[in-house]
Amino acid sequence: MMRLGVNVDHVATVRQARRGKQPDPVAAAIAAEMAGTDGIVCHLREDRRHIRDKDVFLLKEIVKTHLNLEMAATDEMVGLATEVVPDMVTLVPEKREEITTEGGLDIVANNEWIEEVVRRLRSNNIIVSLFIDPDLNQIKAAAKCQADYVEIHTGLYANAPDLGTAMDELEKIRSMAMAAAKMDLGVSAGHGLDYHNVREILEIEQIEELNIGHAIVAKAVMVGMENAVREMLTTIRSH
Ligand code: PXP
Repeated sequence: MMRLGVNVDHVATVRQARRGKQPDPVAAAIAAEMAGTDGIVCHLREDRRHIRDKDVFLLKEIVKTHLNLEMAATDEMVGLATEVVPDMVTLVPEKREEITTEGGLDIVANNEWIEEVVRRLRSNNIIVSLFIDPDLNQIKAAAKCQADYVEIHTGLYANAPDLGTAMDELEKIRSMAMAAAKMDLGVSAGHGLDYHNVREILEIEQIEELNIGHAIVAKAVMVGMENAVREMLTTIRSH
């Protein structure tokens, strides 16, 4: 059964629109856990545009399932992660001007530094995942860096302009998930997944975990966080 990680960044995005206290991503995480999620994901960006440092420390205190901290591979973030010690860190590329994470990490081009960051995190008992495009060279580089997991970027599949492109992207995700599993990497996937397009991804048996944020928080605005998470879990588990 695929596990679900609920990304609560977008709750913090609404809060930061007023620089206030509501809505609270920590309360959203509690609701998601009450609905039965397998884990909580948050991304502490260098510009702190949504999740703040305090949220990460609070999430570490209250999350009872599994906390996955997404962050850039910088000295500052590695220092923070080794203080918080989440269950997992997912290293993602970050550009200040982007609206959301736009592509996977280029591990091939930054091999030595990523390997060093993976080593530092793993020596603090943190499971390390690398967010990558469905590309064989990146998967080989991830295995060489001794990462525990790769998270395959599903954005091009999710946002494909037509069905043919979506199916091509899906095929890439499927074959790269198989390649990663053969290299003994754990496999997760995420970005742009919703209640509909997730169904095809559920067919890929090598994928162990899905990380989903925007679609769940968007639905939660209408039906509440617990209902939104339950509906996604029903979609995943009834597959
Ligand atoms: N996985 C990673 C690495 C991400 O950066 C994001 C976006 O924060 C997600 C998954 C979730 O994407 P979405 O909000 O589109 O579901």
